[in-house]
Amino acid sequence: MWKDMFAHKPLHLFHEEMQGENRLHRVLGRWSLTSLGIGCIIGAGIFVLTGLAAHYKAGPALTVSFIVAGTACVFAALCYAEFVSMTPVAGSAYTYAYATLGELMAWIIGWDLILEYSVASASVAHGWSKYFQNLIGIFHLKIPHLLADAPFDFDPAAGQFIATGSMFDLMALLIVAGLTIVLVIGIRESSRFNNIMVFIKLAVVLLVIGVGVFYIDTANWHPFAPFGWSGLSIFGKTILGQTSADGSPIGVLAGAAVIFFAYIGFDSVSTQAEEAKNPQRDVPFGIIASLLICTVLYIAVTIVLTGMVPYDQIDIHAPVASAFQRVGLTWAQFIISIGAVVGITSVLLVLMLSQPRVLLAMARDGLLPPSFFGSVHPRFRTPWKSTIVTGIFVGLMASFIPLGILAELVNIGTLLAFVIVCTAVLIMRYRNPNAERPFRCPMVPVVPILGVLLCLLLMFSLPSQNWLRLFVWMMIGMLIYFLYGRYHSVMAKRRAQGLDKPITNNQIPITKH
Ligand code: ALA
Repeated sequence: MWKDMFAHKPLHLFHEEMQGENRLHRVLGRWSLTSLGIGCIIGAGIFVLTGLAAHYKAGPALTVSFIVAGTACVFAALCYAEFVSMTPVAGSAYTYAYATLGELMAWIIGWDLILEYSVASASVAHGWSKYFQNLIGIFHLKIPHLLADAPFDFDPAAGQFIATGSMFDLMALLIVAGLTIVLVIGIRESSRFNNIMVFIKLAVVLLVIGVGVFYIDTANWHPFAPFGWSGLSIFGKTILGQTSADGSPIGVLAGAAVIFFAYIGFDSVSTQAEEAKNPQRDVPFGIIASLLICTVLYIAVTIVLTGMVPYDQIDIHAPVASAFQRVGLTWAQFIISIGAVVGITSVLLVLMLSQPRVLLAMARDGLLPPSFFGSVHPRFRTPWKSTIVTGIFVGLMASFIPLGILAELVNIGTLLAFVIVCTAVLIMRYRNPNAERPFRCPMVPVVPILGVLLCLLLMFSLPSQNWLRLFVWMMIGMLIYFLYGRYHSVMAKRRAQGLDKPITNNQIPITKH
């Protein structure tokens, strides 16, 4: 039993699986992949979260927080790129963990990716609804209060749950339903829709930088780091830097841990590997290009935003739009609100595109029911059943549950996935040094090790409750694995039939393409 749980899936099996009938459509080129990456990255993080992070966590030094979080992501992205070039199938970090760390670890990371993609989708859908209601408010339109919000919410000031007076969030439900239909119809359609949205949001971000730069008052950058340069806590005990009134860490590192959310999404490109025309070259390109483009834009937007408004007056709900309203540019406020709604739509689209592909990979391995989660639509060639289930799950969460609490979980879950991918690259280099690697992460072992350390640093810089929530989430996952996955694992069955002996060093064949 223990052997099965730690058995890893040989590389040749991933490649053999790619020969079967139950395949996705290979239609994505390198720029479509890059666009999907940007589609998933720029959204609620930059349009909403920057306000909170600048106001309460880092001040103008939020720019440095963005550089720290971006650096951690670049290290992780290089590791993702190496792995995806070796195993260009749909499962992302789940697949890489299965190839190196074994089945149990793969399940843990697959379960963790559900946290990243589904829970992030729900919180992004919630944010979308708020921005949308804001936008139609400009035209004096209003969603009836009964349908405008989740029925209850957490009031941080009172420290308890309160009734909102609403029944459910209708707009969150509708946007999720609409995108689910697009995603079922096809990857080509989803990608085209995404390209248009990415074009609009990039134009809006460039407008923010190009116009906002003329309204910078350098006096707003003093003091530059009012909350200090650190903000590191270990399981809730601050060991470096200051603490806010509610006990959570503040400072540049704490800011980086929060705005890390803005970078989530570049890794989603790896889940589309099975739909790429030339996955071994183009997916690494898409991952790294989308991340670098967004990092540069984020740093520029933060410089402008903190230069336009004193940090303690930055609006925490719509920081970018409000900054332009403050300096009298109301026309820009309107355009930025449209950019935010469009931007958040594409984030939601790509997050909801990624989740079913991870479920598909897990179902192929028997860890989830394959007849359902592994089913590919005969005409659309999309994982349609798991796309619909993802839509229902995300729609219900977004419309009924207050997501402030769950959203914080997304960061810690994603950081954990990055730690595992960086570790997996190191293990694979050691275990299978001669396998063909169309993309090689530079400076191994330095880059993966720095990736692990930086991601751990950011995980520890998050408020301590997140660790507890991550633990609870993982326990639920373990329960499902021990009740279902363990007994249905394809690898375990193969081993029982003597088809795959435990893998030892150098037994994994060198793949040629
Ligand atoms: N990076 C995505 C966003 O900021 C999740 O909305």
